[in-house]
Amino acid sequence: MLDINKIYNQDCMIGIKSIPDKSIDLIITDPPYSFRKIKSSAQTRLSNTINSTQDKLNKSNLVKDYDHRIWAELIRVMKKINMYIWCSKDQLPELIQYFVIENKCSYDLIIWNKTNPPPTFNNKYITDKEFCLYVRKGGYCQPVSYESGKTVYYQPANVKDKKQYNHPTIKPLNIIENLIKNSSRPGDLVLDPFIGSGTTAVASILNNRNYIGFETNKKYYDICLQRINDIKGERYESVAV
Ligand SMILES: C[S@@+](CC[C@H](N)C(=O)[O-])C[C@H]1O[C@@H](n2cnc3c(N)ncnc32)[C@H](O)[C@@H]1O
Repeated sequence: MLDINKIYNQDCMIGIKSIPDKSIDLIITDPPYSFRKIKSSAQTRLSNTINSTQDKLNKSNLVKDYDHRIWAELIRVMKKINMYIWCSKDQLPELIQYFVIENKCSYDLIIWNKTNPPPTFNNKYITDKEFCLYVRKGGYCQPVSYESGKTVYYQPANVKDKKQYNHPTIKPLNIIENLIKNSSRPGDLVLDPFIGSGTTAVASILNNRNYIGFETNKKYYDICLQRINDIKGERYESVAV
């Protein structure tokens, strides 16, 4: 077994091999997104803007495809299937096919409705949502209040976090904390195989859960370690497993 409460600067497909069967209580993950390029015979300002943003993400490996065999490995390591997957609209059909149709999980869709989306609505709807598919089969889900049981989060894009932690797809800490509180107990072990700037680890620490994370990009790995050290300096009770 890998050491817990540690982030590994490693491809998750390799690192996961050292995690035993049925040892993880909860997975929160945010793999690189895949998008369809906007096709247009006339290069509109909108298609140019969106395609150029996606090209930038591509260059930084943030939409680079990953080994999809990771999903079977993640099922192997969970005690019971209990996993939140941030994904693009285009990834939803294949994830629902695999987890809901083939693996008979129940599911819910968590939505982060951004209240300040860019006004790009020409010939398409505004991009004002991020999706998080929650799949489970016996996994723990006990929202602690009426408020924390809601599935839509209305809040602005987290521009400040992106600047502060220098990760373009960082997720809001308050949402990740809520998912962790709803679907795990203190002392549980939370895995994030694509941990980016470390939001899942920080949320775990703040809520007395244990964590393991993988991140291939050294720059993001270093940011992740820095965030964890900062938070541990503030408050951290380690938890016996
Ligand atoms: C969408 S970002 C995650 C952002 C994260 N949720 C946060 O709040 O900061 C996905 C991350 O996965 C990393 N990544 C891509 N392929 C990977 C792999 N095979 N193993 C581990 N990490 C990987 C990327 O470098 C990127 O930082």
